[in-house]
Order: sequence, then C-alpha cells, then structure tokens
Amino acid sequence: MKAGKFITLGVETSCDDTALALLEGAKTTLYDVISSQIADHSPFGGVVPELASRKHQEAFLPLLGALFKGSGMTPDEIDLIAVTAGPGLMGSLLVGVMAAKALAQAWGIPLVGVNHLEGHIFANILAHPRLEPPFLCLIVSGGHTEIVLARGEGKYLLLGATRDDAAGEAYDKAAKALGLGYPGGPVIERLAHGGDAMSFDFPIGLKDSKEVEFSFSGLKTALRTTVLNLKERGACGDLPIPDICASFQRAVTEALMRKTRLAVKKTGVKRVVISGGVAANGALRDALTSEGKSAGWDVFIPSREYCTDNAAMIAAAGYSAFMRGERSDLSLTPDPSWEIWDESG
Ligand code: KG4
Ligand code: ZN
Repeated sequence: MKAGKFITLGVETSCDDTALALLEGAKTTLYDVISSQIADHSPFGGVVPELASRKHQEAFLPLLGALFKGSGMTPDEIDLIAVTAGPGLMGSLLVGVMAAKALAQAWGIPLVGVNHLEGHIFANILAHPRLEPPFLCLIVSGGHTEIVLARGEGKYLLLGATRDDAAGEAYDKAAKALGLGYPGGPVIERLAHGGDAMSFDFPIGLKDSKEVEFSFSGLKTALRTTVLNLKERGACGDLPIPDICASFQRAVTEALMRKTRLAVKKTGVKRVVISGGVAANGALRDALTSEGKSAGWDVFIPSREYCTDNAAMIAAAGYSAFMRGERSDLSLTPDPSWEIWDESG
C-alpha cells in the first residue's frame, strides 16, 4: 500500500453507463464521473448492445481524464482497480475489463473483478455507512429483480428472482407501448403523478405464490391489451396516459412489496435495503418507508444517484473483496451471467 489512505479506482461499463470513481478506504467516495448513453439508445426504445460497447469505447479515456482533472489526483496515488466483470452485456463488459487490465498493468497495481450485483448491495453500504449485515436487499434494475439476504460481506443468499422480465424492463416496455420513450421508469413515474392509480386493475404477477419470485410479463401483456382495446374503442389520440401509468406503477410496486414482505417473513430479517434504477421510484420508496414504519422494519433507502449504476459501488465492493483476499490477474474475462449466490449463505 502506498503512503496515506488506500485509494480504489472503480470501473463500471456493464450496461449503458460508463462510470469511474475514486474511493478512499472502504466507504468514502472522493470523486465520481459518469457518461450516460440514454440519448443514444432512446430512439431505439431500449439498450442496443453493440452501440453500447462502441459508446463505452469512445467515452472511456476522456472520462478517465475528467476523473483525474476533477479530483486533482494522479494515477500514482491509486492502490487498486476494481472493475465490473459481470453480469451484464458482454460487449460492454469487455471494454471496461480490457481497459482496467491495461491500466493495472501499466500502473503496476492489483486488479479485482467485481460482480455488478454485489456492487448494488454495496451502494447501500456507501449510502449508509452504519448499515451492517444481515440485511435483505431488493435489487430492482433494468436487468435484475432479486431479493438477496446479505449475511456478511461476500456472503449472499439469493432468496428469489424474476421468472421473466425485470421490473425496470417492465417499466421500459410499458413506456414503449405507450409511446413514451426510453428509459420508461422516470417518465412513467412523472406522468403517474397526475393519474388515478385505481383506474385500471392490472395483474400482480405470482401474487399468491408462497415463493419469493416475481413475474412481470403478464402485467406487460395486460397493459398492451388495455392500450389496444382503448384504441379500438376510438380513444386513440386521447389515451388516459396518467391513469394507465399510475395503475401500472401501483401493480409493479405492489408486486415488489408483497415479495419483500414474504422475504422478511421467511428469514426473520427486518433490515431492508433497495438498489438498482427502479429503487429511484418514489412510489416504491414511499411504500417501503411506510411499511417499515408500520411493520417495524429498519429501512435504508439510498439517494437516487446510488440507486442507478455508478462506479463508487463497484469500487466499494472491490475494496471489500480485495480485503477478503480476492485478486484477479490479466486472465480476467467477463462473465455476462456471473452468479455470486452462496447456497449456504
Ligand atoms: O440500475 P439501472 O440504472 O441500470 C441497469 O439496468 O443495470 O436501472 C435502469 C432501469 C431502467 O429500466 C429504468 O426504466 C428504471 O431503472 N428506472 C426507474 C426509475 N428510474 C430508472 N423505474 C421506475 N421509476 C424510476 N424513477
Ligand atoms: Zn445495475
């Protein structure tokens, strides 16, 4: 370790955000930068994998320059590089992993490959430094919908996941069906403010199942069918968009809350955190906060910038893995479906 505090460079390129961050010690974000590709993917209504990897490649070195310029730090102050090595889009992951390997070799410092979902769990630890395991983490993003029991750093039990679409994907597909653009979550949330959430009785997937599992494909189909029926009935230019958005948001939120309640019941763990892009959703944040109050849960909700993809959470997970003795070498290869769940917790 170099003189002074331990500094980790976090590198995140698993989906459509190129992000870099400098972390001091375990939990202090010194500086972070992000280059969003939303404008590039928006015309296509979703992330186009090949375009994403090209954009990461274009953005990476200018962003690294911006990180050093903005933070006033220099490469010789960095002790470790932590890079997302999966899960995610292969072409996107390759750009970050390749760049991180090159930098680690050029700078003569260690490298550790980080699981993106472990990063999302660490986003909560960064946002709430007093948070201690065990806790339940509801991870809800464009690619994932999972409830994980974090028993300790590096010890994660997967309680359940979605059988089909992720919650964020459901928002994105709903927005596409309504002609609202990409990403769907923020625009649906905004329009839902002016709507009546009880207008449409959209289905709540696997509502009565006794397992911690989700399904959003039926909801997506119900929304599409509703839109088609309304159009057939001549409501064309005049769809009740705010009512549809509010009702859709209610169904997603209720599905997530039901299974979170079930996870608390099954594990007895009442400390609950959330992460991933959908965790930025106000209706979900409010539902979790009020359930926490009424059911006596200890709820931790990260600020919105820690919900969506960022590199500080990758640096924090990487620092923890490094301190647990994990190392990667130059043979590190991304794994688009990397799982970290430990059956025995
Ligand atoms: O975690 P994230 O930034 O990227 C990954 O998918 O890994 O999550 C993006 C997803 C998108 O599907 C987006 O529609 C959703 O999160 N999202 C939201 C909100 N903000 C982003 N969903 C609901 N409400 C929001 N406010
Ligand atoms: Zn993510």
